[in-house]
Amino acid sequence: MRLGARLQAIADLVEQGTSLVDIGTDHAYLPIYLVEKKIVSRAVAGEVSDGPYKAAQQTIDNAKLQGVQGCVQLRLGDGLQVIEPGEIETAVMAGMGGATIIGILEGAPRVAHSLKRLIIQPMVAAAAVRRWLFDNGWYIDNEVLVVDDGRLYEIITAEQGEAPKHEEILHDIGPVLWRRKPPLLAMHLDQLIQQTHRILNGMAAGNNYSDKYYIYAEKLSQLEAKKACL
Ligand SMILES: C[S@@+](CC[C@H](N)C(=O)[O-])C[C@H]1O[C@@H](n2cnc3c(N)ncnc32)[C@H](O)[C@@H]1O
Repeated sequence: MRLGARLQAIADLVEQGTSLVDIGTDHAYLPIYLVEKKIVSRAVAGEVSDGPYKAAQQTIDNAKLQGVQGCVQLRLGDGLQVIEPGEIETAVMAGMGGATIIGILEGAPRVAHSLKRLIIQPMVAAAAVRRWLFDNGWYIDNEVLVVDDGRLYEIITAEQGEAPKHEEILHDIGPVLWRRKPPLLAMHLDQLIQQTHRILNGMAAGNNYSDKYYIYAEKLSQLEAKKACL
């Protein structure tokens, strides 16, 4: 199994020998790859929708021919409800929106509290995910940026523990990304600046100069100041 750059970057963040669930597994490419490469000895693949569940079943059946028998367990269900508290150490939640990921974490609090490590790749609303992690006893210990097929993705890993306080704007940028300044950080900041410009332009076009407008304007000036420091 060969992974694209985004899923490969996620796979590279999985600790050797951990027990793992991939929530929203779709084709189950990630858990099959991790078992094939002997990074994990078994994995649970969770999926809520019938179509992707069937697609995952098909990939697992095909992979069985290559000796992945019984090592990837496919479970149909909503979010973390497919596992028991204490069953799994690492949960991957990738390719979903930030609000969905937060909903999954809040939807099964006993399971979420029993996890040791989260690997999260939100498609949108990464800032909301970081804020949620910060407010709910998770410490962001690593962040990675990766470009796949021309699109920039943010991957966040977190462990249970109290996070040091940081500036509000780092929920948007990523506290570890800001500290480590990887080469793609300039592209990430440019995208955040463009997004904020678009929001402000839309509000101005609708003559909406509410408090929110000034919050976004302040965010824009903070992002531009950070960009100038690079
Ligand atoms: C775009 S796919 C991402 C697949 C894969 N994780 C990846 O990153 O390539 C999102 C998948 O998440 C599933 N999903 C969405 N909400 C879910 C939930 N609450 N529980 C389990 N799966 C969910 C969808 O059905 C879909 O198959």
